[in-house]
Amino acid sequence: MPIRTIIEPFRIKSVEPIRWTTRTQREKLLRDAHGNLFLLPADDVLIDLLTDSGTGAMSTYQWGAIMEGDESYAGSKSYNRFRDSIQDIFGYRHVIPTHQGRAAERILFNVMVKRGQIVPNNTHFDTTRANLEFVGGVAMDLVIAEGKQPSLKHPFKGNMDVAALETVIEREGRDKIPLVMLTVTNNSGGGQPVSMQNAKAVSAVCRKHGIPLYFDACRFAENAYFIKLREPGYENKTPKEIAQEMFRLGDGCTMSAKKDGMANIGGFLCTNDDILAQQEKDLLILTEGYPTYGGLAGRDLEAIAVGVQEAVDVDYLRYRIASTAYLGNHISEQGVPIVQPPGGHAIYLDARAFVPHIPLDQFPGVALANELYLEGGIRSVEIGTLMFGKAAKMDLVRLAIPRRTYTQSHIDYVIEVILEVWRKRNQIKGLTLAYEPPFLRHFTARFEMPG
Ligand SMILES: Cc1ncc(COP(=O)(O)O)c(C=O)c1O
Repeated sequence: MPIRTIIEPFRIKSVEPIRWTTRTQREKLLRDAHGNLFLLPADDVLIDLLTDSGTGAMSTYQWGAIMEGDESYAGSKSYNRFRDSIQDIFGYRHVIPTHQGRAAERILFNVMVKRGQIVPNNTHFDTTRANLEFVGGVAMDLVIAEGKQPSLKHPFKGNMDVAALETVIEREGRDKIPLVMLTVTNNSGGGQPVSMQNAKAVSAVCRKHGIPLYFDACRFAENAYFIKLREPGYENKTPKEIAQEMFRLGDGCTMSAKKDGMANIGGFLCTNDDILAQQEKDLLILTEGYPTYGGLAGRDLEAIAVGVQEAVDVDYLRYRIASTAYLGNHISEQGVPIVQPPGGHAIYLDARAFVPHIPLDQFPGVALANELYLEGGIRSVEIGTLMFGKAAKMDLVRLAIPRRTYTQSHIDYVIEVILEVWRKRNQIKGLTLAYEPPFLRHFTARFEMPG
């Protein structure tokens, strides 16, 4: 019989101890954090699934490359290696390094968007929406209807509703829409992929109307692997070839290298437009740094140059997608409501279905995430009413899996904790907001905590 077990395609060279706490300690810790898991000291978390952003393990090749970092202020060799590696996959003429994804977003929107203009996206990520709104733009989410129904299975729930995009362009006029974005995979919509066919259709509409198309490319490699698995005609192509084909459909991208850049920090902004690139570099110098380092050290550029290539490795992606699905399938088989099918980087619990007795203004997702911490020291994040206010279409609890970091037994432990919380779900109580900042409120919001 052929061996079917998919293993971690690496062995561990360096370990980082994690620390147990008791339930009584966690109750106090959560009270001290005002019921907001972002405000917990990371040391008091056993398994940290808050985010897959910058939390992954780097490879020996990345650490080796880091030693070659050229820290010259201008014209460093590390920038050339970074640019060449990115251009090899993304293909865009200008590659502008930034300290992370949101810096790329801020610069892009400052240069391209005027007050009152609309940017359609499948689903804006929170920082994307916030940066757009900060310059007076209007964020419009146009994900397909299937993408808003958590339990529904569909291979490409991240797809954009192309007919809705056409309607918006016709109703508002081309001048009101400075760019269209596609987020691959669609993080806020459950880490769900966008098909090549959909990207082609969106690109065709954009080109017909002369509107630039930009990818939010954070998880481009996972998206490419889903296309390989699920879209007819792509089974024999490499993830890299698929990514290259997708990026050819656009005019540029924003990227957080903390995801499929396999690095702990970094990002970039790409464009094919010479005039925009100049304006973007001028803004970059103002806040991020010179265009050959953009807020990063030379060694960070080296780690990203190697990381983006490792992210498209087929053995890595097979393990990555299988291990995320392992968590999702084991809990959903026991009745736990999750966004189906399992996404690339995370499993999303459907909090509205998990704790239906908690009204939306008492933040069912936050209440559920807090309970996972109390039960087993697991940190997750709400993506719902706290994060997006009334614009939230779902209340989800995201369990994001850091890349190459946790083993299968860690995940078995997470499964056990979730099933225990599921058994006790009727006892979970809603929360009252005590403080909220003016934007991105989920990071620093505080809740009323008993005792
Ligand atoms: C889809 C998406 N876009 C943009 C960002 C922002 O990237 P960063 O955290 O590096 O600023 C993220 C981060 O999680 C994301 O998931």
